[in-house]
Amino acid sequence: MNLKGKSAIVTGAGRGIGKEVALLLAKEGASVIVNDPGVGRGGEAEEGAPADDVVSEIKAAGGNAIANYDSVADYANAGRMVKSCVDTFGKIDILVNVAGMLRERMIWNMTEDDFDAVISVHLKGHWNMCHHATKVMRTARHGRIINFSSDAFKGSVGQCNYSAAKAGIIGLTRSIARECGRYGITANAMCPMAATRMTVNDAVIAGWKRRLDAGLLTQAQYDARMAMPGPEFVAPMVAYLATDAAEDVNGQLFHAERSRIHTYYFGEEARSIFKQDDEGMFTVDELISMVPEGLMQGIPNIAPKEDPK
Ligand SMILES: NC(=O)c1ccc[n+]([C@@H]2O[C@H](COP(=O)([O-])OP(=O)(O)OC[C@H]3O[C@@H](n4cnc5c(N)ncnc54)[C@H](O)[C@@H]3O)[C@@H](O)[C@H]2O)c1
Repeated sequence: MNLKGKSAIVTGAGRGIGKEVALLLAKEGASVIVNDPGVGRGGEAEEGAPADDVVSEIKAAGGNAIANYDSVADYANAGRMVKSCVDTFGKIDILVNVAGMLRERMIWNMTEDDFDAVISVHLKGHWNMCHHATKVMRTARHGRIINFSSDAFKGSVGQCNYSAAKAGIIGLTRSIARECGRYGITANAMCPMAATRMTVNDAVIAGWKRRLDAGLLTQAQYDARMAMPGPEFVAPMVAYLATDAAEDVNGQLFHAERSRIHTYYFGEEARSIFKQDDEGMFTVDELISMVPEGLMQGIPNIAPKEDPK
């Protein structure tokens, strides 16, 4: 057991990736707060308490866990969740922020509520939990924070709220890593890919089928999506990042999918154009010729203008 004696909070742990993370942390010996209000895919209230089922599963396997049903989007609730971990298990060693939901629309159709709700659960929810947890972890001079971003940080059609939140989570994580590393706290982020209700559901499959029929997806691309691996493949890397063995892995971003994990080149300077100090500022006329020749050569428009049909 690699996490014996540790205590952890896993948010959004009633289903999907969070559930698999909670089960594995408990199997590795950690005591776990299983947080999940059991909301729908869009954050709407639903019947049932999936957190209870996960707690039962952990206990049946001989592990230690309690359920929490609060929303991470609420600052005070997040504080109470951290307090309950400390009160129940004596400390908080590990925080895994998995909670998430989607409200997908093109930007011109997206309501203010769609934007605010997604930012509140993902970006603000991460900040709420990290803020309260780091207060305790800093005093203890130990902590492991694993946040959940997404490859949507690169930009994703119909998900500008989600993409913005997930890109924000990378900046948040890297800032926490820099601020807290000296206190023995690490903060890393995951970009997973796994079949859950968020990624593979009836509506999504119908959309893939329409795109296949319209020739916008190849059969191979369609088959690969239909064979998306399960969320259990993401959990081992999260559990590893929570161990003492990962004490020098800090401020990093990992993609996990099936039996493959990769890092990213991130934020490094790529191409540049420059003038000597005595040549003054760029003029707009100079940039009109120098940007395509220098900075953008070989880099296509990611979404070129189309003629109206
Ligand atoms: N599945 C993927 O391929 C994928 C890809 C990229 C990123 N992610 C991210 O991974 C995380 C987990 O996604 P998943 O696919 O397991 O989704 P999921 O819908 O299966 O599980 C998310 C869980 O979060 C809970 N939740 C929602 N709002 C909450 C709130 N305010 N407070 C606490 N819990 C809340 C839900 O009740 C649900 O059980 C999310 O942050 C998601 O954005 C997933």
